[in-house]
Amino acid sequence: MRQKNEAARRIFRILLLLAAFGPAFITARAMAAESNVLFSPPPEESIPQGGFGDLIRHGEKIFTRTAKYAGRYTGNRLSCESCHLDRGRKAYSAPLWGAYVLYPRYRKKNHKVNSLAERIQGCFRFSMNGSATPVDGRTIKSLIAYSFWMSRGAPVGVNLKGSRMVSLPKPEKAPDPLRGKKVYVARCALCHGLGGQGRVSRGEIAFPPVWGPGSYNKGAGFYKVAKLAGFIKMNMPLSKGTTLPDQMAWDVAAYIDSQPRPDKPAPK
Ligand code: HEC
Ligand code: HEC
Repeated sequence: MRQKNEAARRIFRILLLLAAFGPAFITARAMAAESNVLFSPPPEESIPQGGFGDLIRHGEKIFTRTAKYAGRYTGNRLSCESCHLDRGRKAYSAPLWGAYVLYPRYRKKNHKVNSLAERIQGCFRFSMNGSATPVDGRTIKSLIAYSFWMSRGAPVGVNLKGSRMVSLPKPEKAPDPLRGKKVYVARCALCHGLGGQGRVSRGEIAFPPVWGPGSYNKGAGFYKVAKLAGFIKMNMPLSKGTTLPDQMAWDVAAYIDSQPRPDKPAPK
């Protein structure tokens, strides 16, 4: 009899625990799961009319045709979209919807908490080999409006899936430019050119250069082999992302970053 009571009490206690903590447990699971779903940015058609919409649309133009709409701040003819694919929408290419909710954030690179404007300045100086765009100018304001609009509905303070470039696990063999060259010739040169120079069509870049004077400089994120390998793995060859084995992504990244490119600009 006593044993039966004991069992009943145990069951009762479990039920009590579930009632008290079950919902919290379930919510915590749901929140963790949330970051596992790819966020969908709002559709293009939902950009509002009026002044705010104009600012967003201008930001999108700068993003997709940077040389044309913000050429005085750039030192090469890449567009933001050359690396942040599909107008800044594509997961795993540091999309703009991921960026807005990540900032302000601390960066080891300059040992301070950076605003989104400062982070964008960084891409102008290094990836675009240009100058620091004024924080309060129309260029940065428009890009921030575009990023803000694109992140509409994104949860804040959660690490959104696909919101950054990917970090690949360390490769089995150390990344090797010589092996990478073979990958490059076979799978990349068709579009980016054997000499890494890319291809221009009607005065605009059709396929961006991956090294040489028209490429990102030695201060850029892609000058780190690991960062470049993660981008290549998820996004290249164009529209065939994730088909390249990890080792090949590391090797071809090592090859590209072993080629000549503009120096890192002196600190301001
Ligand atoms: C040559 C490639 C390249 C170009 C061109 C480029 N970026 Fe970037 N950008 C990067 C890399 C690499 C990162 C770092 C992403 C990471 O660490 O996951 C980055 C990060 C960012 C971030 C912060 C995102 C984050 O996850 O922290 C923003 C915002 C951004 N870029 C905006 C721009 C804008 C605006 C332009 C055009 C003016 C531009 N970028 C041009 C490569 C590029
Ligand atoms: C079918 C053509 C095509 C192939 C093949 C291709 N790419 Fe690209 N790549 C592009 C285009 C186009 C972009 C720019 C995306 C945009 O503007 O929308 C790009 C962007 C890039 C970028 C970032 C921008 C820059 O210039 O630094 C890198 C790095 C890159 N590709 C590396 C590679 C590597 C490595 C391979 C081979 C594994 C490869 N690509 C194969 C078309 C291609």
